[in-house]
Amino acid sequence: MNKKYIALISLMLCLSLLFSSCENDTETTTEPDIITEAQVNNNSPENEETQAPQEDPSEDNTTEEPSQEETTLPGTVVGYTSKGFAISEKDGITYVDGVLVANKTYSLPSSYNPGELLPECESAFSSLQAAAANENLTIWNASGFRSYELQESLYTRYSNRDGKEAADRYSARPGHSEHQSGLAIDLNDITSAFADTAEGKWIAENCWKYGFILRYPMGKEAQTGYMYEPWHIRYVGVAAAEKIHNSGLCLEEYYGITSVYENTEEVITEVETASEEETELNEVITTEAQSFSEEITSEQNFG
Ligand code: DAL
Ligand code: ZN
Repeated sequence: MNKKYIALISLMLCLSLLFSSCENDTETTTEPDIITEAQVNNNSPENEETQAPQEDPSEDNTTEEPSQEETTLPGTVVGYTSKGFAISEKDGITYVDGVLVANKTYSLPSSYNPGELLPECESAFSSLQAAAANENLTIWNASGFRSYELQESLYTRYSNRDGKEAADRYSARPGHSEHQSGLAIDLNDITSAFADTAEGKWIAENCWKYGFILRYPMGKEAQTGYMYEPWHIRYVGVAAAEKIHNSGLCLEEYYGITSVYENTEEVITEVETASEEETELNEVITTEAQSFSEEITSEQNFG
């Protein structure tokens, strides 16, 4: 009996050891999972810090930039100027760095007709007028918005009178005038003498503070495509106006764009019947035409 008892106890001890071994095995297999969870929980802030840069590679940054441009620039980016500014297009209108451009290279659709100065331009001009008035200077809008059709009448008249080559130096072909944009204004009596008046000097020095630039400065015909027009101001917004003014460059130079007609043979020969709109502006047009004639004579005299 004793031997059997000893054998039974030995068997029970063996079984006990076996079960104990199995339990330890189970614990060791579950430990890694527990430890892993603990590691994740304990190290999660570190992981976030170390993973954040990994989740933000340079590729992601480069893909974010265009989307930021898309939100700040009108329309779709179609290219870049020689100075690296984005060119975008929306509804047939071209913008450079978000600034509408209308010159000999970039035209406006004939259907684009805001009918009057754009509100931001009108408002800025009112502020400019008020500031000038504080200094006893009188600035007035002699010719602001001009429709495609009115510009067509003007250009045709000038072209018939002075010839296309001469007209192209002072009058925009239809679709190419900034006046159609609702962002340009001819000031006071629209003469070259304006530059030497107190008002003309004040405009040249101060119009940028209200978001305007002198669009066709002296000595920049090769870049702008037009002769000096001390009376023609263009609203571009204060930020752009300040930069362009401080640069001493004209708009084309500053942004790195051209102003050249694509089709130099584009000629309008027929003189149109004066419209009601044209009749209302007849006095301004006559003055403007006389001024342009003076400019041409002056330019020819100086060669
Ligand atoms: N005189 C400017 C260039 C125009 O016709 O728009
Ligand atoms: Zn003008």
